[in-house]
This record gives sequence, C-alpha cells and structure tokens, in this order.
Amino acid sequence: MVTTLGVTLGLGVTLLFVVLHLAKGSSKPPAEDIAQDVLEHRASTVPETDFPEPYNRSIGGGGGAGAVAGGAESELEDGEEEDDGFDPDAIADDDVEYYEIEYVKEGETIEVASNESILDAGVDEGWDLPYACQQGQCVSCSGRVADGEDAAEYIRHSNNESLGDAEIEEGYMLTCTAHPTASFSIETDETP
Ligand code: FES
Repeated sequence: MVTTLGVTLGLGVTLLFVVLHLAKGSSKPPAEDIAQDVLEHRASTVPETDFPEPYNRSIGGGGGAGAVAGGAESELEDGEEEDDGFDPDAIADDDVEYYEIEYVKEGETIEVASNESILDAGVDEGWDLPYACQQGQCVSCSGRVADGEDAAEYIRHSNNESLGDAEIEEGYMLTCTAHPTASFSIETDETP
C-alpha cells in the first residue's frame, strides 16, 4: 500500500518537472540569424579590394570582382608560359647531341652533351666554377656567351627563376641549368 502510494507520488512529481521543463523551453524565442546583416553591413563599410571577396561590391553592382578575377587569371597564364622549362633527363639516349664548348677563362674546349649542364661539365673537368643553389634560383653560376650574342641561340634552361629575357638576349645564362643546343664560347663567372 505504502509502495503504491510512493510510486504514484514519484510519477506525479516527475510528470510535473517534465511539463514545467517543456513549458519553459518552448517559451524561449529562437536565436536570430544575423549572418546576412553582418555581411551586408561589412560590404557597405569595408573598402573595395582588387581581389574577389564574398559580398565585396555585391551591393550596388557585382561585376567588378569578376572582372578583376579574370585579369588575375590571365597574368597567371602568362607566367606559366614563361616558366616552361624542359627536362634534360627526358632526352632519350639516342637523341643526345654533343657540342664543342670553349670555356674561355679556363683555356679549354670540351664536348658537352645536350642533357648535361654547362656547369656540371666544367666541374667534371675539375674547374673551380662558382655556384650555389644549382636550381636556377640565384645568379651565382651565371656566365655569358663570349661574344655577347643572345644566349637563347646556344642554350636552353631547364629552369630559370633569375634572369629576364633582356639579360638572356645580352648573352647571360645560368650555367647550372643551361644545356647546350649549339657550339659556342662561354665566359664563366660573369654576372649581369
Ligand atoms: S647556382 Fe643558383 S642559379 Fe645556378
């Protein structure tokens, strides 16, 4: 008898708490989503930038960002074309050619393969030629076609991140990544 009364009271109290909890929870208003307001406010106050950004310029005209993005893409494409090098390791053995390269300061002429760099060929001879990165990223190894002719007529770089077109036209090259395409004379340790 006592047990039945206790269980009934317990159930009643529990039910009361549940009802009160639900009543309290349902009275709370849902949080307001202010994300849209924040974006619109920011778009109206932040200065315009040169790069596409969410909502930048979207109020009062949205064409600007798209136009800028198109321009940036074009610049990248130009840069990629300039950076195209070649892979000397991809030259098949049957296609390797050899050229007579005169190292003027060293007083010798040696045969250099088209898949070998001007620097490596000279170092193999035991000459103390200058270099650092060996990746076409500095100008430590630079040399110059002896008569100052356009270096592009005699070599091609597997990588060149240091010399501009004008410097190459004046005969300069990065010997660490320069591979011969013709015979010529070179002045090593010559910097633009
Ligand atoms: S050693 Fe750095 S570019 Fe040749």
